[in-house]
Amino acid sequence: ALDTRTLRAKSGCITFDEGYGNTGSCMSDITFIDGEKGILRHRGYPIEQLAENSSFLETAMLVIYGELPSEGCLRAFRQQVCKNASIHTGMHSHFDGFPSDAHPMAILSSMLNSLGAYYPEMSSNDREQDLAHFDETAALLISKVRTIAAMTYRMKMGMPFVYPADKRYTGNFLHMMFSEPYNEYIDDHGAGKALDLFLMLHADHEQNCSTSTVRMVASGGANLFASVSAGVCALWGPSHGGANMAVIKMLEEIHAAGDDGSKFIQAAKKGEAKLMGFGHRVYKNYDPRAKILGKSAEGILESIGMKDPLLDIARKLEQAALEDEYFISRKLYPNVDFYSGIILKAIGIPVEMFTVMFAIGRMPGWIANWKEIAENPKSRIHRPRQIYTGKTQRDYLALDQR
Ligand code: ACO
Repeated sequence: ALDTRTLRAKSGCITFDEGYGNTGSCMSDITFIDGEKGILRHRGYPIEQLAENSSFLETAMLVIYGELPSEGCLRAFRQQVCKNASIHTGMHSHFDGFPSDAHPMAILSSMLNSLGAYYPEMSSNDREQDLAHFDETAALLISKVRTIAAMTYRMKMGMPFVYPADKRYTGNFLHMMFSEPYNEYIDDHGAGKALDLFLMLHADHEQNCSTSTVRMVASGGANLFASVSAGVCALWGPSHGGANMAVIKMLEEIHAAGDDGSKFIQAAKKGEAKLMGFGHRVYKNYDPRAKILGKSAEGILESIGMKDPLLDIARKLEQAALEDEYFISRKLYPNVDFYSGIILKAIGIPVEMFTVMFAIGRMPGWIANWKEIAENPKSRIHRPRQIYTGKTQRDYLALDQR
């Protein structure tokens, strides 16, 4: 293996790799993906085993710190997350500044960046100092991103904020989202468990658009709050995290048109539509997270006592696409977003909040990637090159000559 110094010395010419499809931008110990085989592992542990046995907070610790935590460490982390659940009351007034139709991702990104201002010792942009507070910052962000998300929803609904309670991670989130004065939300159908699985499956996914953005921002020395706030912006788009909203909209449109999915498949093949939740830059096989969510969807809906016609349409679409030459030849398979929206909808999360839910889940991965950059004394600012295709040199023309 070549060390970083040797690799740098070998560079000299510019390669053109649009969208970085074949460019390794960093070395990382966090997540391994084999896109051809459909394999995903965090710190060596297969996602299937984590989904079966672990929880979101335990997987978050694994992703961030590299090992499965001992019972004591996990308890301490849970306590730290619990302790940090509320946000400074000074931030409550920030919500008043947003129009009620502001997109929750715009609010989340702004709020995460603003949060840093309340913790100057953790957001100094001095790597040594920011790292000295790292454990506290990590637990704080994992906790508060969930509180900010719930407060965003309440603000948009014109409902009073609900303060966090002494509950587990997802239970507390559902409480802050859905409790009413004198009527506490009771999770008696397993929504918290389903949500925990959803979040865990989103914990990290190597150098996707948002994580690469976090690393890009971090590479300039920016603090963790600023870096994850940028990650939220990158996640927002429909080709990335925004796809989970787009899938539900697509399924609803197909349902409303009385189509069983076959007409939509034809439109996708002609390039008139995109089958949202299908295709992936790295997976040329089933996204293993989609397999897990696809399998769990039925059981989750059943436990919640819900029958969703969108699930039947999704199954038909999946079957039709898997048998169609267009999708086969392009190796287009369901990705994590294909079934996740159906699960979020069943839990009662409004569609507009779906990408925010993705951001809550991805927080550990963003934090772990920031840490990897910050802890590496040799890490270098990210600065890709370009192939210039503009005008050659020309002389300035005075205003009256144009
Ligand atoms: N529906 C129909 N055709 C598709 C789809 C799709 N969902 N995805 C790719 N294709 C086609 C393209 O049109 C292209 O066809 P061509 O060779 O005839 O030109 C071919 O498959 C290759 O597609 P690219 O766009 O080159 O693939 P790329 O790796 O750049 O994009 C992406 C990957 C963005 C995920 C794409 O598949 C897509 O837009 N999917 C739908 C949105 C989505 O689900 N995004 C979530 C991704 S996972 C995540 O971020 C969590």
